Amino acid sequence: MTTLDARPGTTAPALRFPPGFRWGTATAAYQIEGAATEGGRTPSIWDTFSRTPGKVRNGDTGDIAADHYHRVDEDIALMRRIGVTDYRFSVAWPRVQPTGRGPAVRTGLDFYRRLADGLLEAGIRPVATLYHWDLPQELEDAGGWPHRETAYRFAEYAGLVAEALGDRVATWTTLNEPWCAAFLGYGSGVHAPGRTSAVASLRAAHHLNLAHGLAARVLREAVPVTAEVSLTLNLHAVRPCSPAPEDVDAARRIDAVGNRIFLDPVFHGRLPEDLVRDTAAVTDWDFVADGDLAAISAPLDSLGINYYAPSLVGAGSSESPSPWAGAERHVRFETVPGPRTAMDWPVDADGLHGLLLRLRDELPGVPLVITENGAAYDDYADPSGRVKDPERVAYLHAHLAAVHRALADGADVRGYFLWSLLDNFEWAYGYSKRFGIVHVDFATQRRTPKDSARWYGEVIARGGLDT
Ligand code: NOJ
Repeated sequence: MTTLDARPGTTAPALRFPPGFRWGTATAAYQIEGAATEGGRTPSIWDTFSRTPGKVRNGDTGDIAADHYHRVDEDIALMRRIGVTDYRFSVAWPRVQPTGRGPAVRTGLDFYRRLADGLLEAGIRPVATLYHWDLPQELEDAGGWPHRETAYRFAEYAGLVAEALGDRVATWTTLNEPWCAAFLGYGSGVHAPGRTSAVASLRAAHHLNLAHGLAARVLREAVPVTAEVSLTLNLHAVRPCSPAPEDVDAARRIDAVGNRIFLDPVFHGRLPEDLVRDTAAVTDWDFVADGDLAAISAPLDSLGINYYAPSLVGAGSSESPSPWAGAERHVRFETVPGPRTAMDWPVDADGLHGLLLRLRDELPGVPLVITENGAAYDDYADPSGRVKDPERVAYLHAHLAAVHRALADGADVRGYFLWSLLDNFEWAYGYSKRFGIVHVDFATQRRTPKDSARWYGEVIARGGLDT
């Protein structure tokens, strides 16, 4: 028996999750697949960005990454041993439709068919995300997300993927973290394509919303009625640093441009009025066409939430170029006290609990799924080959306990996906940050489950955890 073969505990867990709760792990195509030029795949904006000197730490690229493209069977076997019920992966647009236009490439679709089939055989539910930041470079050259046409291109691509995989994938997410795609990609420029324009970031956010709405409708038409259609947002758990009105207003501004810019159009078919006011010096939002908000608010079956850490803000001023499109003028980000991960992000599970209760109140009837949560630490294999990661276990424990508390408080949380299955390409940080519960030695591609993988397997087998 291996260390990973968890057994149901003999005692019931103190914090028991509901039957049918989905226990998953998550990854994204560019972060793990590698095989950047195989099967007709062409460059995405992340290939271009990572090959541009100075953009990614150590000049790292996703050319090889965790070589998942060639090790998919081994990675499915790992998940089976851990015991996850669900696996969230993303489909690489440039693998399926290299130029972002025209017919699909069969080799690309075959890879995801094989992945989905392997998961189903292993008893793991495939959960597909259509866009995790790898826009085909040709579409960026034609204007990228600030350009309306990109939303129509995305809807077409969504149709190709849904048609090919709809018979085996029942859970779909249109976009992953459109906030990052818009504001880090086009505002602060720390993510691909690295543009720094406030108006471009707001246009991108709107067209990502539109892309989501159009794709949600396409998915509904292409997949069985029982399929689940969703969107994943990295909602900001933002708190004012004091009850002073100017600090409360700073938090309101970040909530508008960080959260309600997506939540209001998607769930209520409207733009937040305060956001339009806060960004008046940047744009009059003339890129929002008649009918857009109706398309964007296509009904959804669930909302995915990625949560890592909260933000603490007050009145002041922030760095430039900032990702906040001018709406943050007079906002200062403060340090949240307490322990931190290797990303220098604070460990604060109350932020997750608070966010879930807010969504319970503001979006009644919308099932919630934690589509990402996890932590980076500087993990290494000790001389015996073991990877001890007690800090990650503590982080995960605290956050799962927070989810349990939110469930007890009436939040309708259906599942939890741990980020990430494997150590991988952490965007601008390259391979310097390890989020996996499975360690990857990038020189040999050897996978070693960390202690947290065994711990998570036990949580799943017991259906919960102790206090
Ligand atoms: C959210 C993103 O979706 C994922 O790609 C990233 O690796 C994690 N956050 C950690 O930063």
